[in-house]
Amino acid sequence: MVKSVILDCDPGHDDAMAILLAAGHPDVHVRAITTVGGNQTLEKVTRNALGLATLAGLNVPIAAGHEAPLDRPLVTSPEIHGESGLDGVTLPKPTMDLDPRHGVNLIIDTIMESEPGTISLVPLGPLTNIGAAVQKEPEIVSRVAEVSLMGGGMSVGNATAAAEFNILTDPEATSIVFSAPWKVTMVGLDVTHYAQATPEVLDRIRAINSPISHFVNDLMAFFIQSNLAEQNFAAPPIHDPVALANIIDPTILKTERLPIVVETQGEYTTGMTLVDRRPWITSLTTTHVATEIDVERFWDLVIGAIANL
Ligand code: BDR
Ligand code: CA
Repeated sequence: MVKSVILDCDPGHDDAMAILLAAGHPDVHVRAITTVGGNQTLEKVTRNALGLATLAGLNVPIAAGHEAPLDRPLVTSPEIHGESGLDGVTLPKPTMDLDPRHGVNLIIDTIMESEPGTISLVPLGPLTNIGAAVQKEPEIVSRVAEVSLMGGGMSVGNATAAAEFNILTDPEATSIVFSAPWKVTMVGLDVTHYAQATPEVLDRIRAINSPISHFVNDLMAFFIQSNLAEQNFAAPPIHDPVALANIIDPTILKTERLPIVVETQGEYTTGMTLVDRRPWITSLTTTHVATEIDVERFWDLVIGAIANL
């Protein structure tokens, strides 16, 4: 079944992999791409999104959203993604113009103009645009099919001991997203840390031997170095496509319905996603947590999509 999605992203090497998955998978219809300041400045990630869409032949509305988190200054991540946000590759000159709307308005318009229950939101960066969209047009909450976001974690952080980068960047927006009564799945480090681009995975991608597979190879070469230097990963985790994979084929992840809150004021724990796993707490929460991943089937999905491009 074809799923209509809005990708809200901050490309970013793993965001790029999610865009390629979206472009190459026959069951994905990308309705819009919006960008948010995160891995790099809004200007840079927007330029990257336009170049990636051009590369992947994805002709969809692309709009720039918020430059900075709702209540904090932006802290980017050049040590992981480089000065351009996508170091290691050269992107084609964009063949499309940027949509003149603010990203938040593109999100709202796309959802409000579609049949209720048909659009899934896939946030792959800080949740600023999504939180702002809920504040501006609360009606979207009941009209979205579901939200599958990359961010957070139950038991581990990466930006700090307690917090994952996307959530730490904008905990206030995250709180809006987790509090809204829509189905939201936190696809966090508990699963994405297993979605590693191992030498075997890279061999399979190289074997495709197409312009896109060569691009992915160069993209990964930089990401391997930065993840090794910064986080000591022998093979880098490719976080963002996991959240999209959850929409395409929900059997790739095991998820549990559990309450989640985000810490916004902790002395040491700001950005921590606190999941209530006490077995006697029964709650009608609409938040879900990804707890396990079928890594092999995840890579089959991504590599299959790359081969289609
Ligand atoms: C997340 O942070 C960013 O660096 C990646 O693009 C991903 O969305 C992982 O913590
Ligand atoms: Ca991202």
